[in-house]
Amino acid sequence: MSTLLFVTASLMGENSKSREVGADYVDSWRTAHPAGVVVERNLTPANVPHLDMSTLGALGVAADKRTADQAKAAAFADGIIEQVEAADTLVLAVPMYNFAIPSTLKSWFDHLARAGRTFRYTAQGPEGLLKNKKAIVVVSRGGYFGADAAGVSNFQDPYISHILGFVGITDVTIVAVEGQAIGPEAAAKGLAEAHSAIRALSPQAIAA
Ligand SMILES: Cc1cc2nc3c(=O)[nH]c(=O)nc-3n(C[C@H](O)[C@H](O)[C@H](O)COP(=O)(O)O)c2cc1C
Repeated sequence: MSTLLFVTASLMGENSKSREVGADYVDSWRTAHPAGVVVERNLTPANVPHLDMSTLGALGVAADKRTADQAKAAAFADGIIEQVEAADTLVLAVPMYNFAIPSTLKSWFDHLARAGRTFRYTAQGPEGLLKNKKAIVVVSRGGYFGADAAGVSNFQDPYISHILGFVGITDVTIVAVEGQAIGPEAAAKGLAEAHSAIRALSPQAIAA
């Protein structure tokens, strides 16, 4: 069964522009996959803690030897990976914070990238193990970071493309909502352009 995982990471909640545009894709995907399953995961500091030594340590202990705390930590970390493994389509809604991604999303990636599970090192270099998935990434930002404007200080979409590719997700489409802090007209234009761009995408899943 097709499954779409919608990951949101804005502190603006329902007012998030990246979420609003990402939800457009989710809606058209639902129409194209009436029997498909949509899972939404909203990342907050409370529900995605930093990866710490207690979690990393727990993952290094055999499942049947873990303490109750270690079992809980490992189950949380495994849950992040399992949610992605179960999805054939990912929609990530990502605000730009200080030229990069929200720290909650960084924590989520820190849990997702696990040697031997979502990537492995080979003689030919690293190999991502989360294959046959596609990602639609909606980035939103106050300014303009497109190809012709200040691209050099954009640590948002290049990082997302890189880390997704590292774990095997190489089919990545990025839609940008730009100019959200420039003024009402620029914000409305940036939002409308992003809505048009996302509606032009075909909501096909990779796996049936
Ligand atoms: C803490 C914080 C940091 C931000 N840093 C940047 C930035 O570095 N560059 C930028 O263009 N916009 C920046 N912005 C503006 C947001 O990227 C913009 O409002 C965007 O629409 C947020 O996405 P959202 O609407 O999905 O929450 C920042 C906003 C906040 C709250």
